[in-house]
Amino acid sequence: MSKDAAVIEATDARRGLALVAKQVMGCNDCGLCKGRTNAVPGEGSPDASIMFIGEGPGFYEDQQGRPFVGASGKFLDQLLASIGLDRRTAFITNIVKCRPPQNRDPEPDEIAACAKHLDAQIAAIGPKVLVTLGRHSMQRYFPGESIGRLHGQPRRHSDLIVVPMYHPAAALHQGSLRKVIEADFARLPDFLTRKAGIESMAVPAHLRSGSGAIGTQTAAATPPTAAEPDAESRQMRLL
Ligand code: URA
Repeated sequence: MSKDAAVIEATDARRGLALVAKQVMGCNDCGLCKGRTNAVPGEGSPDASIMFIGEGPGFYEDQQGRPFVGASGKFLDQLLASIGLDRRTAFITNIVKCRPPQNRDPEPDEIAACAKHLDAQIAAIGPKVLVTLGRHSMQRYFPGESIGRLHGQPRRHSDLIVVPMYHPAAALHQGSLRKVIEADFARLPDFLTRKAGIESMAVPAHLRSGSGAIGTQTAAATPPTAAEPDAESRQMRLL
């Protein structure tokens, strides 16, 4: 692709994402809108080759309107840093964009109502690889499958490659799973470069100023030190 075409594509993606974000913020298509402080559309690079899809916003995400800024977000940032990936070069979102009450699992009708937003984000960005975090986002692509069987293994889904991973919140609180998710992430770069043709995961120059070197968190992404309310009770359900 020529440089001009790439610029046009990135501009279109940015516009597309802005439109989805606007629609998400005004969305009343399921009951989750009633309890939200902020909808959480997602964030990252409009020309990301890799997209991370979690389950749904928790307490701090709902407060800040940003994905993965709580305890599991801190762990996700560490996992990304361990493979030289910065969240600003990827796109991070969830299957539901509003916080389920008490961080319960999203219901099938809520996931279905929100699917159009995620579909539109994927269409706008056109990533090569989707990394699903936890069983709910995995089941969007592989219904009926078990995360224990599929984790860490790239699989084709139409013209996308989907890599199911355990949810960072689950892995964070279970020593054995933590090692598994770390090992699964450690295998990602080789796969991304050799099989998915993603050449560079480095942070582009325009994002590199200030405190934003690879592996460090942006100020806005710095998570709170306290554990998320209700987080403990949801660890097992996230598997
Ligand atoms: N857990 C998720 O699945 N998504 C978030 O954004 C935060 C925690």
